[in-house]
Amino acid sequence: MSIAQLTYEGKTIELPVITGTENEKAIDISNLRDATGLITLDLGYKNTGATKSAVTFLDGELGILRYRGYPIEQLAEKSDFLEVAYLLIYGELPTKAQYDDFTHQIKMHTLVNEDIKKILDGFPASAHPMGILSSLVCTLTAFYPESVANPTPDNTNLNIFRLLAKMPTFVGWAYKKSMGHPVNYPKNSYDYCQNFLHMMFALPVEDFNPDPIVVDALNKLLILHADHEQNCSASTVRMVGSSRASIFSSISAGINALWGPLHGGANQEVIEMLDEIREMGIRPLDYLEKVKRKEVRLMGFGHRVYKNFDPRAKIIKKACDQVLSKLGVKDPILDIAKELEEAALTDDYFVSRKLYPNVDFYSGIIYRALGIPTDMFTVMFALGRLPGWIAQWKELNASKEPIGRPRQVYTGATNREYVPIGQR
Ligand code: ACO
Repeated sequence: MSIAQLTYEGKTIELPVITGTENEKAIDISNLRDATGLITLDLGYKNTGATKSAVTFLDGELGILRYRGYPIEQLAEKSDFLEVAYLLIYGELPTKAQYDDFTHQIKMHTLVNEDIKKILDGFPASAHPMGILSSLVCTLTAFYPESVANPTPDNTNLNIFRLLAKMPTFVGWAYKKSMGHPVNYPKNSYDYCQNFLHMMFALPVEDFNPDPIVVDALNKLLILHADHEQNCSASTVRMVGSSRASIFSSISAGINALWGPLHGGANQEVIEMLDEIREMGIRPLDYLEKVKRKEVRLMGFGHRVYKNFDPRAKIIKKACDQVLSKLGVKDPILDIAKELEEAALTDDYFVSRKLYPNVDFYSGIIYRALGIPTDMFTVMFALGRLPGWIAQWKELNASKEPIGRPRQVYTGATNREYVPIGQR
Protein backbone atom coordinates (compact mmCIF):
# COMPACT_ATOMS: atom_id res chain seq x y z
CA MET A 1 0.00 0.00 0.00
CA SER A 2 1.42 3.41 -0.87
CA ILE A 3 1.32 6.38 1.45
CA ALA A 4 0.71 10.10 0.91
CA GLN A 5 2.25 12.57 3.33
CA LEU A 6 0.67 15.77 4.54
CA THR A 7 2.68 18.38 6.37
CA TYR A 8 0.84 21.01 8.36
CA GLU A 9 2.31 23.37 10.94
CA GLY A 10 5.52 21.38 11.09
CA LYS A 11 3.86 18.03 11.68
CA THR A 12 3.81 15.36 8.97
CA ILE A 13 1.19 12.67 8.89
CA GLU A 14 0.90 9.66 6.62
CA LEU A 15 -2.31 8.92 4.77
CA PRO A 16 -2.89 5.54 3.10
CA VAL A 17 -3.50 5.57 -0.64
CA ILE A 18 -6.04 2.96 -1.65
CA THR A 19 -6.36 1.55 -5.16
CA GLY A 20 -9.54 0.39 -6.90
CA THR A 21 -9.79 -2.59 -9.25
CA GLU A 22 -9.38 -0.30 -12.26
CA ASN A 23 -6.26 1.20 -10.68
CA GLU A 24 -7.82 4.51 -9.69
CA LYS A 25 -6.24 5.86 -6.54
CA ALA A 26 -7.63 7.69 -3.53
CA ILE A 27 -6.09 9.17 -0.40
CA ASP A 28 -7.92 7.77 2.60
CA ILE A 29 -8.45 10.75 4.89
CA SER A 30 -10.65 8.97 7.44
CA ASN A 31 -8.22 9.91 10.26
CA LEU A 32 -7.35 13.40 9.00
CA ARG A 33 -9.38 15.36 11.55
CA ASP A 34 -8.28 13.23 14.48
CA ALA A 35 -4.64 13.60 13.48
CA THR A 36 -4.57 17.28 12.48
CA GLY A 37 -7.84 18.97 13.44
CA LEU A 38 -8.32 19.73 9.74
CA ILE A 39 -11.19 18.85 7.47
CA THR A 40 -11.18 19.01 3.66
CA LEU A 41 -13.24 21.42 1.58
CA ASP A 42 -14.36 20.21 -1.85
CA LEU A 43 -17.33 22.12 -3.22
CA GLY A 44 -19.48 19.95 -5.46
CA TYR A 45 -17.42 16.93 -4.30
CA LYS A 46 -15.30 17.25 -7.43
CA ASN A 47 -12.39 15.35 -5.81
CA THR A 48 -14.21 13.42 -3.15
CA GLY A 49 -14.83 9.70 -3.24
CA ALA A 50 -17.82 9.30 -0.96
CA THR A 51 -17.83 5.51 -0.96
CA LYS A 52 -16.32 2.31 -2.36
CA SER A 53 -18.62 0.74 -4.92
CA ALA A 54 -18.60 -2.34 -7.15
CA VAL A 55 -21.64 -1.41 -9.25
CA THR A 56 -20.53 0.85 -12.11
CA PHE A 57 -17.17 1.92 -13.46
CA LEU A 58 -16.70 4.98 -15.57
CA ASP A 59 -13.62 6.71 -16.88
CA GLY A 60 -14.51 10.22 -17.94
CA GLU A 61 -11.17 10.86 -19.65
CA LEU A 62 -11.39 7.75 -21.83
CA GLY A 63 -15.18 7.75 -22.24
CA ILE A 64 -15.68 4.29 -20.69
CA LEU A 65 -18.84 3.11 -18.92
CA ARG A 66 -19.33 -0.42 -17.59
CA TYR A 67 -22.03 -1.94 -15.39
CA ARG A 68 -20.53 -4.65 -13.15
CA GLY A 69 -17.65 -4.88 -15.64
CA TYR A 70 -19.77 -5.22 -18.80
CA PRO A 71 -19.27 -2.43 -21.40
CA ILE A 72 -22.37 -0.30 -21.94
CA GLU A 73 -22.05 -0.79 -25.71
CA GLN A 74 -22.50 -4.59 -25.37
CA LEU A 75 -25.37 -4.31 -22.92
CA ALA A 76 -27.20 -1.75 -25.08
CA GLU A 77 -26.85 -3.97 -28.13
CA LYS A 78 -27.44 -7.44 -26.68
CA SER A 79 -29.34 -7.25 -23.41
CA ASP A 80 -32.78 -6.12 -22.27
CA PHE A 81 -33.69 -3.74 -19.49
CA LEU A 82 -34.71 -6.30 -16.87
CA GLU A 83 -31.61 -8.40 -17.47
CA VAL A 84 -29.51 -5.27 -16.92
CA ALA A 85 -31.58 -4.45 -13.83
CA TYR A 86 -30.79 -7.93 -12.45
CA LEU A 87 -27.10 -7.47 -13.25
CA LEU A 88 -26.91 -4.12 -11.46
CA ILE A 89 -28.89 -5.20 -8.42
CA TYR A 90 -27.47 -8.71 -7.86
CA GLY A 91 -24.01 -8.30 -9.40
CA GLU A 92 -24.07 -11.02 -12.09
CA LEU A 93 -25.95 -11.65 -15.32
CA PRO A 94 -28.84 -14.01 -14.52
CA THR A 95 -29.05 -17.60 -15.70
CA LYS A 96 -32.17 -18.37 -17.75
CA ALA A 97 -33.91 -19.73 -14.64
CA GLN A 98 -32.96 -16.66 -12.58
CA TYR A 99 -34.12 -14.34 -15.34
CA ASP A 100 -37.46 -16.14 -15.67
CA ASP A 101 -38.01 -16.03 -11.93
CA PHE A 102 -37.04 -12.35 -11.69
CA THR A 103 -39.34 -11.26 -14.52
CA HIS A 104 -42.13 -13.44 -13.09
CA GLN A 105 -41.75 -11.88 -9.62
CA ILE A 106 -41.94 -8.42 -11.13
CA LYS A 107 -45.11 -9.32 -13.03
CA MET A 108 -46.65 -10.59 -9.79
CA HIS A 109 -46.36 -7.11 -8.25
CA THR A 110 -47.50 -4.79 -11.03
CA LEU A 111 -50.90 -4.06 -9.46
CA VAL A 112 -50.99 -0.99 -7.26
CA ASN A 113 -53.22 -0.58 -4.18
CA GLU A 114 -56.42 1.16 -5.33
CA ASP A 115 -56.06 3.78 -2.56
CA ILE A 116 -53.00 5.13 -4.36
CA LYS A 117 -55.36 6.17 -7.15
CA LYS A 118 -57.12 8.44 -4.66
CA ILE A 119 -53.79 10.10 -3.88
CA LEU A 120 -53.21 10.55 -7.60
CA ASP A 121 -56.66 12.11 -7.90
CA GLY A 122 -55.68 14.74 -5.33
CA PHE A 123 -52.98 16.21 -7.57
CA PRO A 124 -53.94 19.24 -9.68
CA ALA A 125 -53.70 18.87 -13.47
CA SER A 126 -50.74 21.28 -13.34
CA ALA A 127 -48.61 18.82 -11.30
CA HIS A 128 -45.27 17.96 -12.89
CA PRO A 129 -45.05 14.16 -13.33
CA MET A 130 -41.71 14.05 -11.46
CA GLY A 131 -43.45 15.46 -8.38
CA ILE A 132 -46.22 12.89 -8.74
CA LEU A 133 -43.71 10.08 -9.21
CA SER A 134 -41.60 10.92 -6.17
CA SER A 135 -44.74 11.29 -4.04
CA LEU A 136 -46.21 7.97 -5.14
CA VAL A 137 -42.93 6.13 -4.60
CA CYS A 138 -42.65 7.61 -1.10
CA THR A 139 -46.28 6.70 -0.47
CA LEU A 140 -45.29 3.02 -0.75
CA THR A 141 -43.80 3.32 2.76
CA ALA A 142 -47.36 3.71 4.02
CA PHE A 143 -48.61 0.64 2.17
CA TYR A 144 -45.61 -1.52 3.09
CA PRO A 145 -44.73 -0.27 6.60
CA GLU A 146 -42.45 -3.23 7.25
CA SER A 147 -40.04 -1.54 4.81
CA VAL A 148 -39.44 1.25 7.35
CA ALA A 149 -38.14 -0.55 10.43
CA ASN A 150 -35.24 -2.99 9.99
CA PRO A 151 -36.60 -4.93 7.00
CA THR A 152 -35.31 -8.48 6.56
CA PRO A 153 -33.31 -9.28 3.37
CA ASP A 154 -36.37 -11.13 2.05
CA ASN A 155 -38.57 -8.13 2.68
CA THR A 156 -36.07 -5.83 0.98
CA ASN A 157 -36.01 -8.15 -2.01
CA LEU A 158 -39.79 -8.09 -2.15
CA ASN A 159 -39.70 -4.29 -2.07
CA ILE A 160 -37.23 -4.32 -4.94
CA PHE A 161 -39.73 -6.34 -7.03
CA ARG A 162 -42.48 -3.96 -5.97
CA LEU A 163 -40.52 -0.89 -7.00
CA LEU A 164 -39.57 -2.27 -10.40
CA ALA A 165 -43.11 -3.56 -10.96
CA LYS A 166 -45.05 -0.49 -9.90
CA MET A 167 -42.86 2.23 -11.40
CA PRO A 168 -44.29 1.83 -14.96
CA THR A 169 -47.77 2.00 -13.44
CA PHE A 170 -46.96 5.23 -11.60
CA VAL A 171 -45.37 6.77 -14.70
CA GLY A 172 -48.32 5.76 -16.87
CA TRP A 173 -50.78 7.09 -14.32
CA ALA A 174 -48.94 10.42 -14.01
CA TYR A 175 -49.21 10.80 -17.79
CA LYS A 176 -52.87 9.79 -17.93
CA LYS A 177 -53.58 12.29 -15.17
CA SER A 178 -52.00 15.10 -17.21
CA MET A 179 -54.09 14.06 -20.24
CA GLY A 180 -57.34 13.74 -18.32
CA HIS A 181 -57.62 10.15 -19.57
CA PRO A 182 -58.72 7.12 -17.52
CA VAL A 183 -55.75 5.23 -16.09
CA ASN A 184 -54.84 1.77 -17.36
CA TYR A 185 -54.13 -1.38 -15.38
CA PRO A 186 -50.95 -3.37 -16.04
CA LYS A 187 -51.12 -6.25 -18.49
CA ASN A 188 -48.96 -9.18 -17.40
CA SER A 189 -49.00 -10.90 -20.78
CA TYR A 190 -46.71 -8.09 -21.95
CA ASP A 191 -43.02 -7.81 -21.20
CA TYR A 192 -41.73 -4.86 -19.17
CA CYS A 193 -41.39 -2.34 -21.98
CA GLN A 194 -44.55 -3.46 -23.79
CA ASN A 195 -46.49 -3.09 -20.55
CA PHE A 196 -45.04 0.36 -20.00
CA LEU A 197 -46.18 1.50 -23.45
CA HIS A 198 -49.60 0.01 -22.75
CA MET A 199 -49.81 1.93 -19.44
CA MET A 200 -48.92 5.13 -21.30
CA PHE A 201 -50.76 4.92 -24.58
CA ALA A 202 -53.58 2.35 -24.50
CA LEU A 203 -57.06 3.87 -24.59
CA PRO A 204 -60.31 2.13 -23.66
CA VAL A 205 -61.78 3.01 -27.05
CA GLU A 206 -59.36 1.18 -29.31
CA ASP A 207 -56.96 -1.78 -29.54
CA PHE A 208 -53.34 -1.21 -28.61
CA ASN A 209 -50.40 -3.11 -30.05
CA PRO A 210 -46.95 -2.07 -28.87
CA ASP A 211 -44.72 -1.36 -31.89
CA PRO A 212 -41.61 -3.65 -31.75
CA ILE A 213 -39.43 -0.78 -33.02
CA VAL A 214 -40.59 1.37 -30.12
CA VAL A 215 -40.16 -1.49 -27.63
CA ASP A 216 -36.62 -2.08 -28.86
CA ALA A 217 -35.69 1.61 -28.68
CA LEU A 218 -37.18 1.89 -25.22
CA ASN A 219 -35.15 -1.07 -23.94
CA LYS A 220 -32.00 0.56 -25.24
CA LEU A 221 -32.76 3.95 -23.70
CA LEU A 222 -33.61 2.45 -20.32
CA ILE A 223 -30.40 0.38 -20.33
CA LEU A 224 -28.31 3.44 -21.15
CA HIS A 225 -29.81 5.31 -18.21
CA ALA A 226 -29.73 2.42 -15.73
CA ASP A 227 -26.79 3.59 -13.59
CA HIS A 228 -24.02 6.14 -13.55
CA GLU A 229 -22.13 5.62 -10.27
CA GLN A 230 -22.06 8.44 -7.69
CA ASN A 231 -24.00 11.16 -9.53
CA CYS A 232 -26.27 13.64 -7.75
CA SER A 233 -29.34 11.38 -7.52
CA ALA A 234 -27.45 8.17 -6.67
CA SER A 235 -25.52 10.04 -3.98
CA THR A 236 -28.84 11.36 -2.68
CA VAL A 237 -30.24 7.83 -2.53
CA ARG A 238 -27.16 6.67 -0.62
CA MET A 239 -27.16 9.69 1.68
CA VAL A 240 -30.82 9.24 2.62
CA GLY A 241 -30.33 5.47 2.84
CA SER A 242 -27.35 5.97 5.18
CA SER A 243 -29.78 7.15 7.87
CA ARG A 244 -31.38 3.69 7.39
CA ALA A 245 -34.41 5.32 5.78
CA SER A 246 -36.56 2.87 3.79
CA ILE A 247 -35.78 1.95 0.20
CA PHE A 248 -38.96 3.73 -0.93
CA SER A 249 -38.19 7.05 0.78
CA SER A 250 -34.53 6.91 -0.31
CA ILE A 251 -35.50 6.39 -3.95
CA SER A 252 -38.20 9.03 -3.74
CA ALA A 253 -35.43 11.46 -2.68
CA GLY A 254 -33.33 10.34 -5.66
CA ILE A 255 -36.22 11.14 -8.00
CA ASN A 256 -36.32 14.67 -6.61
CA ALA A 257 -32.58 15.08 -7.12
CA LEU A 258 -32.90 13.86 -10.71
CA TRP A 259 -35.63 16.41 -11.40
CA GLY A 260 -33.24 19.41 -11.44
CA PRO A 261 -32.30 20.93 -14.83
CA LEU A 262 -28.56 20.37 -14.26
CA HIS A 263 -29.18 16.63 -13.80
CA GLY A 264 -31.99 14.55 -15.38
CA GLY A 265 -34.09 17.62 -16.11
CA ALA A 266 -31.63 18.50 -18.88
CA ASN A 267 -33.30 16.17 -21.42
CA GLN A 268 -36.47 18.27 -21.29
CA GLU A 269 -34.42 21.48 -21.47
CA VAL A 270 -32.57 20.24 -24.57
CA ILE A 271 -35.80 19.82 -26.51
CA GLU A 272 -37.10 23.18 -25.30
CA MET A 273 -33.83 24.77 -26.43
CA LEU A 274 -33.96 23.07 -29.85
CA ASP A 275 -37.61 24.03 -30.27
CA GLU A 276 -36.82 27.62 -29.38
CA ILE A 277 -34.02 27.73 -31.95
CA ARG A 278 -36.41 26.35 -34.59
CA GLU A 279 -39.40 28.53 -33.71
CA MET A 280 -37.36 31.74 -33.46
CA GLY A 281 -35.50 30.88 -36.67
CA ILE A 282 -32.15 31.36 -34.88
CA ARG A 283 -29.13 30.01 -36.74
CA PRO A 284 -27.43 27.31 -34.61
CA LEU A 285 -24.14 29.18 -34.96
CA ASP A 286 -25.76 32.34 -33.56
CA TYR A 287 -27.14 30.34 -30.65
CA LEU A 288 -23.63 29.10 -29.90
CA GLU A 289 -22.48 32.73 -29.74
CA LYS A 290 -25.10 33.34 -27.02
CA VAL A 291 -23.75 30.30 -25.18
CA LYS A 292 -20.21 31.61 -25.45
CA ARG A 293 -21.32 34.99 -24.07
CA LYS A 294 -22.69 32.88 -21.16
CA GLU A 295 -26.22 34.18 -21.69
CA VAL A 296 -27.43 30.57 -21.86
CA ARG A 297 -25.94 27.10 -21.44
CA LEU A 298 -25.87 24.63 -24.27
CA MET A 299 -28.14 22.08 -22.66
CA GLY A 300 -27.13 18.45 -23.19
CA PHE A 301 -23.48 19.45 -23.35
CA GLY A 302 -20.83 19.09 -20.69
CA HIS A 303 -20.53 16.65 -17.86
CA ARG A 304 -18.92 16.67 -14.44
CA VAL A 305 -17.04 13.46 -15.12
CA TYR A 306 -16.81 12.98 -18.91
CA LYS A 307 -14.11 15.14 -20.39
CA ASN A 308 -14.43 13.14 -23.59
CA PHE A 309 -17.43 11.75 -25.48
CA ASP A 310 -20.11 10.39 -23.19
CA PRO A 311 -20.28 6.79 -24.54
CA ARG A 312 -24.06 6.81 -24.02
CA ALA A 313 -24.40 9.87 -26.26
CA LYS A 314 -22.61 8.02 -29.10
CA ILE A 315 -25.04 5.08 -28.86
CA ILE A 316 -28.08 7.33 -28.56
CA LYS A 317 -27.09 9.45 -31.55
CA LYS A 318 -26.87 6.32 -33.72
CA ALA A 319 -30.13 4.97 -32.30
CA CYS A 320 -31.77 8.32 -32.93
CA ASP A 321 -31.02 8.15 -36.67
CA GLN A 322 -32.20 4.51 -36.83
CA VAL A 323 -35.42 4.97 -34.84
CA LEU A 324 -36.53 8.10 -36.68
CA SER A 325 -35.86 6.47 -40.02
CA LYS A 326 -37.61 3.18 -39.10
CA LEU A 327 -40.62 5.06 -37.75
CA GLY A 328 -40.60 7.39 -40.76
CA VAL A 329 -40.38 10.46 -38.52
CA LYS A 330 -38.75 13.60 -39.89
CA ASP A 331 -38.02 15.93 -36.99
CA PRO A 332 -36.32 19.20 -37.96
CA ILE A 333 -34.78 19.59 -34.51
CA LEU A 334 -32.56 16.56 -35.20
CA ASP A 335 -30.83 18.57 -37.93
CA ILE A 336 -30.48 21.53 -35.58
CA ALA A 337 -28.99 19.27 -32.89
CA LYS A 338 -26.48 17.81 -35.34
CA GLU A 339 -25.49 21.26 -36.57
CA LEU A 340 -25.01 22.51 -33.00
CA GLU A 341 -22.94 19.45 -32.10
CA GLU A 342 -20.74 19.68 -35.17
CA ALA A 343 -20.06 23.38 -34.65
CA ALA A 344 -19.46 23.05 -30.91
CA LEU A 345 -16.99 20.20 -31.33
CA THR A 346 -14.71 22.41 -33.41
CA ASP A 347 -15.18 25.61 -31.44
CA ASP A 348 -12.43 26.60 -29.03
CA TYR A 349 -14.89 27.54 -26.25
CA PHE A 350 -16.16 23.94 -26.07
CA VAL A 351 -12.90 22.22 -27.02
CA SER A 352 -10.84 24.04 -24.38
CA ARG A 353 -13.41 23.25 -21.67
CA LYS A 354 -13.75 19.64 -22.86
CA LEU A 355 -17.50 19.99 -23.38
CA TYR A 356 -19.01 17.10 -25.34
CA PRO A 357 -22.62 16.01 -25.89
CA ASN A 358 -23.95 14.08 -22.90
CA VAL A 359 -26.62 11.39 -22.65
CA ASP A 360 -29.39 13.99 -22.75
CA PHE A 361 -28.45 15.68 -26.01
CA TYR A 362 -30.17 13.18 -28.33
CA SER A 363 -32.37 11.13 -25.96
CA GLY A 364 -35.23 13.64 -26.01
CA ILE A 365 -35.41 13.50 -29.81
CA ILE A 366 -35.96 9.74 -29.63
CA TYR A 367 -38.50 10.07 -26.81
CA ARG A 368 -40.40 12.60 -28.90
CA ALA A 369 -40.39 10.24 -31.90
CA LEU A 370 -41.75 7.49 -29.61
CA GLY A 371 -44.69 9.78 -28.76
CA ILE A 372 -43.54 10.66 -25.25
CA PRO A 373 -44.36 14.26 -24.35
CA THR A 374 -41.58 16.63 -23.31
CA ASP A 375 -42.53 16.98 -19.65
CA MET A 376 -42.35 13.17 -19.31
CA PHE A 377 -38.71 12.96 -20.43
CA THR A 378 -37.20 13.23 -16.96
CA VAL A 379 -39.70 10.65 -15.76
CA MET A 380 -38.40 8.31 -18.45
CA PHE A 381 -34.91 8.91 -17.10
CA ALA A 382 -36.17 7.98 -13.61
CA LEU A 383 -37.75 4.78 -14.95
CA GLY A 384 -34.41 3.80 -16.47
CA ARG A 385 -32.34 4.85 -13.44
CA LEU A 386 -34.41 2.87 -10.94
CA PRO A 387 -32.24 -0.33 -11.00
CA GLY A 388 -29.13 1.79 -10.44
CA TRP A 389 -30.65 3.54 -7.44
CA ILE A 390 -31.76 0.18 -6.06
CA ALA A 391 -28.27 -1.30 -6.55
CA GLN A 392 -26.64 1.70 -4.88
CA TRP A 393 -29.07 1.59 -1.94
CA LYS A 394 -28.64 -2.16 -1.53
CA GLU A 395 -24.84 -1.91 -1.63
CA LEU A 396 -24.86 0.93 0.90
CA ASN A 397 -27.09 -1.03 3.25
CA ALA A 398 -24.99 -4.17 3.01
CA SER A 399 -21.81 -2.19 3.71
CA LYS A 400 -23.16 -0.71 6.96
CA GLU A 401 -21.30 2.50 6.16
CA PRO A 402 -21.81 5.20 8.81
CA ILE A 403 -24.50 7.83 8.33
CA GLY A 404 -23.48 10.42 5.71
CA ARG A 405 -22.77 13.61 7.56
CA PRO A 406 -20.37 16.07 5.89
CA ARG A 407 -18.71 18.87 7.79
CA GLN A 408 -18.45 22.54 6.84
CA VAL A 409 -16.23 25.58 7.07
CA TYR A 410 -18.42 28.00 8.98
CA THR A 411 -18.48 31.54 7.54
CA GLY A 412 -21.32 33.13 9.53
CA ALA A 413 -21.43 35.56 12.44
CA THR A 414 -19.31 34.78 15.49
CA ASN A 415 -20.71 34.69 19.01
CA ARG A 416 -23.03 37.64 19.77
CA GLU A 417 -25.58 38.58 22.41
CA TYR A 418 -29.30 38.15 21.84
CA VAL A 419 -31.09 41.53 21.55
CA PRO A 420 -34.78 41.63 22.57
CA ILE A 421 -37.10 42.45 19.64
CA GLY A 422 -38.10 45.88 20.96
CA GLN A 423 -34.46 47.02 21.07
CA ARG A 424 -33.48 46.05 17.50
N1 ACO B 1 -22.78 25.24 -22.05
C1 ACO B 1 -21.88 26.25 -21.98
N2 ACO B 1 -20.87 26.28 -21.11
C2 ACO B 1 -20.71 25.27 -20.29
C3 ACO B 1 -21.58 24.16 -20.31
C4 ACO B 1 -22.64 24.19 -21.24
N3 ACO B 1 -23.49 23.18 -21.31
N4 ACO B 1 -21.20 23.28 -19.38
C5 ACO B 1 -20.12 23.81 -18.80
N5 ACO B 1 -19.82 25.00 -19.35
C6 ACO B 1 -18.68 25.87 -19.04
C7 ACO B 1 -18.91 26.66 -17.75
O1 ACO B 1 -19.50 27.92 -18.00
C8 ACO B 1 -17.50 26.77 -17.22
O2 ACO B 1 -16.85 27.76 -17.99
P1 ACO B 1 -15.78 28.78 -17.27
O3 ACO B 1 -14.60 27.93 -16.93
O4 ACO B 1 -15.52 29.81 -18.29
O5 ACO B 1 -16.47 29.33 -16.05
C9 ACO B 1 -16.85 25.45 -17.61
O6 ACO B 1 -17.57 25.01 -18.79
C10 ACO B 1 -16.96 24.40 -16.53
O7 ACO B 1 -18.33 24.26 -16.17
P2 ACO B 1 -18.82 23.84 -14.75
O8 ACO B 1 -20.23 24.32 -14.57
O9 ACO B 1 -17.82 24.25 -13.72
O10 ACO B 1 -18.77 22.27 -14.88
P3 ACO B 1 -19.48 21.25 -13.93
O11 ACO B 1 -18.71 20.00 -14.00
O12 ACO B 1 -19.70 21.85 -12.59
O13 ACO B 1 -20.93 21.08 -14.61
C11 ACO B 1 -22.75 20.31 -15.85
C12 ACO B 1 -21.34 19.97 -15.29
C13 ACO B 1 -23.66 20.75 -14.70
C14 ACO B 1 -23.33 19.03 -16.44
C15 ACO B 1 -22.61 21.41 -16.91
O14 ACO B 1 -21.76 20.97 -17.95
C16 ACO B 1 -23.96 21.85 -17.46
O15 ACO B 1 -24.61 22.72 -16.86
N6 ACO B 1 -24.39 21.28 -18.64
C17 ACO B 1 -25.70 21.60 -19.19
C18 ACO B 1 -26.78 20.84 -18.44
C19 ACO B 1 -26.78 19.36 -18.80
O16 ACO B 1 -26.73 18.98 -19.96
N7 ACO B 1 -26.87 18.54 -17.76
C20 ACO B 1 -26.96 17.08 -17.92
C21 ACO B 1 -25.71 16.43 -17.42
S1 ACO B 1 -25.78 14.70 -17.70
C22 ACO B 1 -26.80 14.12 -16.54
O17 ACO B 1 -26.99 14.63 -15.46
C23 ACO B 1 -27.54 12.96 -16.86
